[in-house]
Amino acid sequence: MPSSWETLRWVGGLAGQLVLLDQTCLPGELREITCRDVSAVVEAIRALRVRGAPAIGIAAAYGLVLGLQPAAAAGTDALFAALEETRQLLSASRPTAVNLNWALERMGHRARQLRGVLEPPGILAALLAEAQAIHDEDRATCRAIGRHGAALLRDGMGILTHCNAGALAASEYGTALAVIYTAHEAGLRLHVFADETRPLLQGARLTAWELVERGVDTTLICDSMAAQVMREGRVQAVITGADRIAANGDAANKIGTYALAVLADAHQIPFYIAAPHSTFDLTLDCGAAIPIEQRDPREITHGFGRMTAPAGVQVYNPAFDVTPARLIRALITDRGLIAPVTAPRIAAVLQETAPAGGAQRPAGTGNSAAGE
Ligand code: MRU
Repeated sequence: MPSSWETLRWVGGLAGQLVLLDQTCLPGELREITCRDVSAVVEAIRALRVRGAPAIGIAAAYGLVLGLQPAAAAGTDALFAALEETRQLLSASRPTAVNLNWALERMGHRARQLRGVLEPPGILAALLAEAQAIHDEDRATCRAIGRHGAALLRDGMGILTHCNAGALAASEYGTALAVIYTAHEAGLRLHVFADETRPLLQGARLTAWELVERGVDTTLICDSMAAQVMREGRVQAVITGADRIAANGDAANKIGTYALAVLADAHQIPFYIAAPHSTFDLTLDCGAAIPIEQRDPREITHGFGRMTAPAGVQVYNPAFDVTPARLIRALITDRGLIAPVTAPRIAAVLQETAPAGGAQRPAGTGNSAAGE
C-alpha cells in the first residue's frame, strides 16, 4: 500500500532542491522542509530530520548534487574541488551508518569516470541521475529484503522491532518493516511490538505511526518491557535494521538492539537483522571497529525540551550498539538470507549475487569516499 507521503524527493531538474519529510515533527505533524544547499542537508542529517541508514545515504547523494550546483558554471578543477569539500561535509554529518559513505563513494566514482569526458554541467547532470538511481534502486532493494524475510514468518506470529527501520528510514518500504509489510500484504496476521526506543523515541514516534497507518496490528511498549513480553510468549521473532555490518556479521544498530538480542537468545527466540548490501562494510573485520556516534547529553536530560534529570549529572549517550554475529540467526538482505552469520557465508552471498560491473558493490572501502 503506497503512503501519502515520501521520506525524501528531488524537486526540479539540475537546479532543483531536496525536499524532506521532517521526522522530528512526527507523529504530530506532516511537515516537509526544502534543502537548497549542502549545509541544510548536513543539518537535517545531524538533527535526524532525515534518519535511518538507507535514507541518509540517499539524502547524502542528493546533498552532493546541491553542493556542486554553484560550481557547475566553473571549470573542471573547481567542480572537483567542490566535490571533495562537499563530500567531507556530508561524510562528517553522522559516523555510524556506512550507507552514507557508500553513496558518496558511488557518486565520487561516477564523477571521476566522467572527468575529461564531459564538461561540468554534463558531470552534474550525470551525478543527479546517479543520485536518482541510488534512490530508485533502494525501492527495489527494500522490496527484495521484504520478499526474502517474509518467507521466515508464519501466520499469527508476534514480532518485536526496535527503532525505525521502515519507510521513513529508506525510500519507501524500509528493511525490518519491509519484511512485516510484505507478510502483512500476503495476508499473514502478525502482531508487532514496537519498542519506543529511548531517548529519541523513533519506535513510538515513527515505527508505531507507520505501522498503524498501514493497518498492521501494533502494540507500543517501553524498551524495558521487552523481556516481559518475551516471557509471556508473545514474541516469536525479533527483527531490526542495521547501520553497519562488519565482515564477520557483527551489526551496529540503534542503542538497545544488543540488549534485545541477548534477551531473544535467553528466550530462544530468533533474532534477525534486515539490511541492504550497502550496509555491509567488509573493510572492518568485526564490530569493535565500527564508529559509534555519541550524541548530545541533552537528549537524555531534557528529552523533547523538558528537564528530566538533575543539572550536573554525568550522561553517556551512544546512539548505537553492536550485536555480535553469534546472536543473529540470519541476516535478511536484498541478495538473500545469510545464515549462519559468518564471514565466509557473508562474503559468499554478497559476491555470488553481486551484479556485473560492481555498481552496487558492498561498501567495502570504509569511511573514505575519496580514493579509487
Ligand atoms: O538514529 P537513527 O534514527 O538514524 O537510527 C536508525 C536505526 O538505528 C535504524 O534501525 C537503522 O538505520 C536501519 S534503517 C533501515
